[in-house]
Amino acid sequence: MLLNLTSHRATLCLVTILMWGTMVDCLIKAKLRTCGTTGFCYRNRAFADDITSLGTDAHSPYTIIQDSILFSEGNSHLHADIENTNNKILFTLDVTILQDNTARVQINEKTPLHQRYDDHARHTLDNPLRPVSPSQVQKGGEKTMIALDDTRALVIYSQPFKMEFLVDNVPVIIFNDRSFFNIEHLRTKANHKPKMIKEPSSPDVMQDTTKLESTMWAERFVNWTDPKPNGPESIALDISFPGFSHVYGIPSHASNLDLKETRGGPNAYLEPYRLFNRDAYMYDLDTPFPLYGSVPIMYAHRKDISVGVFWMNPSETWIDVTKTRSKDKKASSTSKTALHKMFGYGNDKMDDSTAVTGTQTHWFSESGVLDIFVFFGPTPKDIVRQYVSLTGAPMMPPLFSIGYHQCRYNYGDEEEILDIDNSFDKNEIPYDVIWLDVDYTDGYKYFTWNKTSFPDPLRLQKQLEDKGRKIVIIIDPHIKRSNAYRLYREAERADYFIKSPSGDDFVAVSWPGPSSWVDYTNPNAINWWARQFAFDSFTETSENVQLWNDMNEPSIFNGPETTMEKQMVHFGGWEHRDLHNLYGMLMHRATAKGIRERTAIPKRPFVLARSFYAGSQRYGPVWTGDNIADWGHLAASTPMILTNGISGIPFSGADITGFIHEPSMELFTRWYQIGIYQPFFRAHSRYDSEYREPYLVAEPFQTLTRAAIHRRYALLPYWYTLFYNAYRTGTPMMRPMFFEFPEEEPLFTEEDQFMVGDAILVKPITTEGAVSTNVYFPRNEIWYDVETYFCITTPGHTTVAAPLEKIPAYQRGGTIIPYRERPRRSANAMQLDPFTLVAALTTKYTNNTFSCVSLHEDPTGTDATDFAQSHQVLTIERIRILGLKTQPTHARLYAPDIRPYKDLPFDYDNINGVLSVGKPNVSVIDCRWSIVVV
Ligand SMILES: *[C@@H]1O[C@H](CO)[C@@H](O)[C@H](O)[C@H]1NC(C)=O
Ligand SMILES: *[C@@H]1O[C@H](CO)[C@@H](O)[C@H](O)[C@H]1NC(C)=O
Ligand SMILES: *[C@@H]1O[C@H](CO)[C@@H](O)[C@H](O)[C@H]1NC(C)=O
Ligand SMILES: *[C@@H]1O[C@H](CO)[C@@H](O)[C@H](O)[C@H]1NC(C)=O
Repeated sequence: MLLNLTSHRATLCLVTILMWGTMVDCLIKAKLRTCGTTGFCYRNRAFADDITSLGTDAHSPYTIIQDSILFSEGNSHLHADIENTNNKILFTLDVTILQDNTARVQINEKTPLHQRYDDHARHTLDNPLRPVSPSQVQKGGEKTMIALDDTRALVIYSQPFKMEFLVDNVPVIIFNDRSFFNIEHLRTKANHKPKMIKEPSSPDVMQDTTKLESTMWAERFVNWTDPKPNGPESIALDISFPGFSHVYGIPSHASNLDLKETRGGPNAYLEPYRLFNRDAYMYDLDTPFPLYGSVPIMYAHRKDISVGVFWMNPSETWIDVTKTRSKDKKASSTSKTALHKMFGYGNDKMDDSTAVTGTQTHWFSESGVLDIFVFFGPTPKDIVRQYVSLTGAPMMPPLFSIGYHQCRYNYGDEEEILDIDNSFDKNEIPYDVIWLDVDYTDGYKYFTWNKTSFPDPLRLQKQLEDKGRKIVIIIDPHIKRSNAYRLYREAERADYFIKSPSGDDFVAVSWPGPSSWVDYTNPNAINWWARQFAFDSFTETSENVQLWNDMNEPSIFNGPETTMEKQMVHFGGWEHRDLHNLYGMLMHRATAKGIRERTAIPKRPFVLARSFYAGSQRYGPVWTGDNIADWGHLAASTPMILTNGISGIPFSGADITGFIHEPSMELFTRWYQIGIYQPFFRAHSRYDSEYREPYLVAEPFQTLTRAAIHRRYALLPYWYTLFYNAYRTGTPMMRPMFFEFPEEEPLFTEEDQFMVGDAILVKPITTEGAVSTNVYFPRNEIWYDVETYFCITTPGHTTVAAPLEKIPAYQRGGTIIPYRERPRRSANAMQLDPFTLVAALTTKYTNNTFSCVSLHEDPTGTDATDFAQSHQVLTIERIRILGLKTQPTHARLYAPDIRPYKDLPFDYDNINGVLSVGKPNVSVIDCRWSIVVV
């Protein structure tokens, strides 16, 4: 979404040009704060540098008060007081042991001047926490130990405060190992004691007048002033992962899967990774800069174990990542940091080959309380399960939404929509959803239609519905300020808008011009918003209409970094500062609630959101925002979607073929070829782009693109199963290689290939003119090309052909993939189609029998029997067995109504060893059959 040059938008453009001076094509590309221009970030990095410069003399000022340690609730809960010995401020420490190898650590001020924001937990955590009693606890003066079981324990040190999380007596995570733990207690300006520094040359104590102090009570950025009425209130902690070379997570950044270092080290960034939701129009690649969404979860992984931390805080957050290497000596690392201190942070030219011995991270959030969940794994899949058991199961999406989505900013009117719809059919390209961007509204008033371009929305919806297709329309969180607009009047009267500190509604500029923003932290506002989707309220909508929430960072055209100023006030008096990263998710939730509740029988909603936070997976998919049609953005989509996936948000995608600029036809084709293997599969392009619906492009690109889309549709049964598994376990459909092969070290940094489920390895082609590519095949597996069934048994790097017509993808031996191979116009139209099963053998198979087992948890329950009743016609029309070395003589079907068996026709391809058994016509509902190949 961007500014363009029509009507009042031209004025906006002019405004933005004056504001930033760097407008390209009149687009928003906002100037960003850096750590050095963000007070709490600067102070916490400086705090860390001060401590580090003391070398071995460094110690944390925080200690646990003797005798304050108390166990309760069957020892599942520990409470203690912590004192900052520098200023005698007291803090509370609460440690809770939870089921499934999880621990929670909370630190708050004991007697704060006023409450610190912790209300976000009820929005973020979806499930009641389940404390469990540890197997053993040991309270000591210096050291308190909690053993979760025989292998896992945590140790809390008192003087200074430090926590170690141990597996087999070896620490895997350490809090405050480097003494960077720092909570800025709440204070008034009057009783604030500025930091004193000693001038080395004089004995006098001097007041520190540097940047450390100057941003505590007000902070300027470009022409904005953040008044910071509460003064400094940041929380910071260092979290070390000793023995781990790789860390992952903390989306969203246009960066690597394997996170880079941010303070020195080979190829390091100069800035910390930053989490601060913003409208990142036309974002740069390979940066730690913040994008649209924030999920503060991090994994550390090595061959034998994965561990994770979830830093539950929705205020602006920065994360430094550094690594120790075997050549580093204590002395040299100290002098390195001293140099950093002198010259700022630099990009060391270090030898990449030096073995990494550990990863250290340093987290700082602007406000709130410290609230961290620790996951002991031990595998990556365990961590994602442990995480979603707290923040909620990823939603099970409706079937149509995993088909192909056709979007453009903007399809103009009903006639155009119907023309596109017919053109897809005429050209035999399936699609399920057509999208409407902001121009369908009556002057950017959401929940209205422009009746000139959409004279009869219900008629349009009916026509789409008849073909089994849906329409998705956009609704944003800004409400046009106009007394002629019912929504505005209602929200204004009921006080549902975010306020400015003066108590007036906050007013700023977005699509409609002057607007106000709905406060989705207000429970009444949530209900009011959800009710707007009722069919009698949002007139001329039917069940066919699904939703898209854009601009929910929130994006504010005339705001700092294109978002909301932090001093704005939410329900309950909380500052926007406290919950900025949560806002987008709260809108997403309210919209999904509205769609679910608009029918008497609640139905699974489809709502796409641009901004997200921990827990957004409960409400619908997200995407990577306004990307560019170039090869770099195509390549970046893989690590970005993978990172979302391991962070509990498995349903995400990138705008197919790039939102901004024109793709070459080769890029266009390659992008679709990758898009079919990404969870959310939507083409999108900007208002000024050439029309590029897939049937418009020239040959051979059109044929290749059609073939790719057909392959996606053929794989829908597999995708749907993977979505169900994600809903049950959190395991993402699209997975990093290390998720599936956690012991295979060369894959720990692999982000140019990925797994779809456990059965398909995909290698995207992201370079122009490629005719071949290099694929890493994991060890001890057999892989079959999904198109030719050619079998690959050599592990490690292999060069494979990848001309434009080839999408390198491989089925793993030992798996069965269900396909629906009959071409149809939409996913809905395929629902009763028969299946083709492709079974890929390993070398170890022993039984020549293909049999059927029901996995339903309650096969005799009414849900199951009703469904089975309505799907009696579902059958398997073909079975292919890959890797069968010798031609069989028979394929025999055994079933209750067949005596003694029936010989099925089959083909055998002796080059690739593929047996195709035709027309078994066996049921997928009634499993009482088997096929024996002899
Ligand atoms: C900053 O400048 C922009 C552009 O001139 C303007 O729209 C905005 O209102 C200004 N903000 C403040 C706080 O003055
Ligand atoms: C409604 O659509 C027509 C036709 O596209 C357009 O000319 C008009 O400006 C739109 N009106 C509003 C209020 O958006
Ligand atoms: C082999 O197939 C037969 C017949 O379906 C079945 O009873 C048996 O359990 C299978 N054996 C193994 C090892 O799967
Ligand atoms: C295939 O199976 C279905 C359901 O089991 C049955 O109704 C149908 O008659 C069968 N068709 C053929 C060609 O055997």
